[in-house]
Amino acid sequence: MSSEALHVPREKLRRETLNLHYAITSLQEEFDAVDWYRQRADDCDDPSLKAILLHNAKEELEHASMILEWIRRNDPEVNEQLKEYLFSEGSIVGHEETASEKHGL
Ligand SMILES: [Fe+2]
Repeated sequence: MSSEALHVPREKLRRETLNLHYAITSLQEEFDAVDWYRQRADDCDDPSLKAILLHNAKEELEHASMILEWIRRNDPEVNEQLKEYLFSEGSIVGHEETASEKHGL
């Protein structure tokens, strides 16, 4: 099995990096699918097909969420960033400035 998105020879990658690569690539694919289903639904003039496309988009969001949770559990740095930003309120950029000060960045 090969992946065109690898930027270094596979044998140089740690197993953990390779697994994260699979997860990140899958996350990209799931969000691509959400975007594509929504675009097609916007352009579709058949109500029952439109409903199926929107249903499928929602399923892809579920898949994306499952993959993201796996990434969070397996990458401590992602976990740290998601804890910092997800479900925060107010200005995201403002939150970043506060977080950078807090972490001395
Ligand atoms: Fe999916």
